[in-house]
Amino acid sequence: MASTNLPRDSFGSKFGVVAASAGSAIGLGNIWRFPYVVGENGGGAFLLIYLAFIITIGLPVMLSEFTIGRKAQRNAFGSFRKLAPKSYWPLVGLMGIIAAFAILAFYSTIAGWTLEYIINSVSNSFAGNDPEVIFENFKSGTFRPILWQLIFMIMTAWIVFSGVKHGIERYTKILMPFLLLLIIIMCIRSLTLDGAAEGVEFLFRPDFSKISWPVILKALGQAAFSLSIGMGTLITYGSYINKKENLTKTAIQVSAADTIIAVLAGVMIFPAVFALGFQPDDGPGLVFVVLPGLFLEMPGGYVFSIIFFVLLAVAALTSTVSVLEVVVAYFSEELNISRKRATVIAASSIWVLGIFATLSFSDLSGFKILDKTIFDLLEYFAANMLLPLGAMLIVIFLGWHLGYKKTRLEITNEGLFKGRMFGVYFFIIKFIAPIAIALVFLYGIGLINF
Ligand code: PFF
Repeated sequence: MASTNLPRDSFGSKFGVVAASAGSAIGLGNIWRFPYVVGENGGGAFLLIYLAFIITIGLPVMLSEFTIGRKAQRNAFGSFRKLAPKSYWPLVGLMGIIAAFAILAFYSTIAGWTLEYIINSVSNSFAGNDPEVIFENFKSGTFRPILWQLIFMIMTAWIVFSGVKHGIERYTKILMPFLLLLIIIMCIRSLTLDGAAEGVEFLFRPDFSKISWPVILKALGQAAFSLSIGMGTLITYGSYINKKENLTKTAIQVSAADTIIAVLAGVMIFPAVFALGFQPDDGPGLVFVVLPGLFLEMPGGYVFSIIFFVLLAVAALTSTVSVLEVVVAYFSEELNISRKRATVIAASSIWVLGIFATLSFSDLSGFKILDKTIFDLLEYFAANMLLPLGAMLIVIFLGWHLGYKKTRLEITNEGLFKGRMFGVYFFIIKFIAPIAIALVFLYGIGLINF
């Protein structure tokens, strides 16, 4: 235990580390956001760029975050302060805390929707009804979506409050494999629908005419969002990782699991989108109208639908926990308040901000800035601006501030592993990733017209 007056929690096992990090990475970003962002941005070509970013930027940044966190053993802000005292670097940590607020505010809106959909599944309300009408009626309301969002924030706060090891680690281990299994079953059903081929083609046949710099920036933003990188979540989780773990292996396993689930979600959704007559660019509502349609086409759809939305809620929960943990670790370690108090303050203030995100879908959403709702702004600002910028600064920090030797020692567990690929990794984080992110970012926002 650390000798500070603030005892630090840590993960109990190797599997726990992977489960918690994969729990953070795998969430609504894979199953809700990935399909609709792919759908809005042209399909196959977007997917290719996304995959390229996962390998060349996402994975190295993930490893870098683990490295910073484990070396410093502090929250996102404190890690930079410890490794670079008396500098501006801690501002990168602070940016992460702001990103956490923004992300959780809009993420909890959608997480709340999953709870409504569990109830809809149990009460069999999809049967004989148009899924689009059900969805419209629900999201345009005010009371129910806000209530579900509150309930979801309370669940998140409860787990963060009870500590990561005994809450999240225990459940993710069991539930994540179930989610995978269920998605595979649904992929099979979706692929065997009449007219499924069009969806497969949409997802896998690249049409580069749809690609522009803003679209490339969105692919980068989606890669960062899906892997939970760029805002210190994995610095925070890294700080709970044991000095004996192999960080490189962990980062590879987590990125691979996240990517597989996202691609499978695409294979599950797009054939159904085309076969059931929906539009791929339906926006944030996409999975909430397509999946109920798919369940109605499946034998045992009633049961599958309940299980699926429960698992989706759980996947969302393991992600919201990791985001809230960023803020709570910061509040409790840096501002010296108890974990309990930090959790209550963070969760309630995020919920208040989140109400505006939720109301963006309601009949009351006359309120717009630059013709965009608060939800759209929070989502765009966090995923496409804060996360890529954060990711860029994190790799610059390792490449140019911490340097080759210290980074190598931390990643190889003081030379215990050979680190054969280290040279490649370091070259990427020192030169390739920062330049690539900067270019994508500058071009992406230069042509902005959202
Ligand atoms: N990666 C999560 C998902 O795909 O649902 C969302 C997320 C969690 C983003 C944690 C950022 C983060 F720090």
